Amino acid sequence: MNIPIQHPRSIGQKVRGTDTQDGAGVQLKRVLPAPGLRLLDPFLLLDVFSSDNPNDYIAGFPPHPHRGFETVTYLLAGQVRHRDSAGHMGVVKAGGVQWMTAASGIKHSEMPEQEDGLLQGFQLWVNLPAAEKMGTPAYQEYEPDQITEETRSNGVKLRVISGTTIEGSTGPVTSTSTDAIYLDISIPADSDYTEVIPQGFNAFIYLISGKIQIGHATVTTGELATLGDGDGVVIDSSEESRMLLIAGKPIGEPIARHGPFVMNTKEEIEQAYRDYESGLFGEVEDTHDEVA
Ligand code: CO
Repeated sequence: MNIPIQHPRSIGQKVRGTDTQDGAGVQLKRVLPAPGLRLLDPFLLLDVFSSDNPNDYIAGFPPHPHRGFETVTYLLAGQVRHRDSAGHMGVVKAGGVQWMTAASGIKHSEMPEQEDGLLQGFQLWVNLPAAEKMGTPAYQEYEPDQITEETRSNGVKLRVISGTTIEGSTGPVTSTSTDAIYLDISIPADSDYTEVIPQGFNAFIYLISGKIQIGHATVTTGELATLGDGDGVVIDSSEESRMLLIAGKPIGEPIARHGPFVMNTKEEIEQAYRDYESGLFGEVEDTHDEVA
């Protein structure tokens, strides 16, 4: 049973992202941040990668640090192996997610575990409040079959990574300090979809495929659309469409960011570089392959 939405959100800005390279030469589209787009606090970055040309992704992301925020990797196709300086290792598979809370610092590698075929997915950076930036690193990782699925009577299908839907499905990722909502939504052609999004949360849609309308505005494949405030969203599809809906509670603190570090002040960024250079983040062991 749906709670009616009193104040549906409308579309604010739309962006398409910029082609760029990161890691050791991975081709990707950086959708956040975007020139002219307001900060969608707590979301700092959204990269979209989608290629079936191994030259675009094979070099991967060799060992690199993070401090002060969370990185969320969600894959639609292919797989990525990660190893980190705390001794963790795992493989994110198509439909699976890794929600890593880098906090005080982690060094990790993220390498495609395939030599051909399609690699498609997303990396989202979620900021942490000052009180948690220097906490203990942690991560939550879920296999494709551990992601909550919801099917609605009109054929809308949801994969709930975090947050709770209007119909009460809750994703496996918990205790994010920004109450982040992360949904992968598939809507059949000429159907509609309603979702609750708490008032005051920053929210956006990234359209993976298809064409949708929110109010009088249209969003097409590859566009990110920010949502204005309200208590939910109503989406109509004119084609079969798939999208991410991401929302979270703004932190509202000053942001100092440089490269892989996101802190509150410039001094804290300088400290992060000093700590990293003096080896405080540890090393990524490359011996896991030898474990039988
Ligand atoms: Co990383």
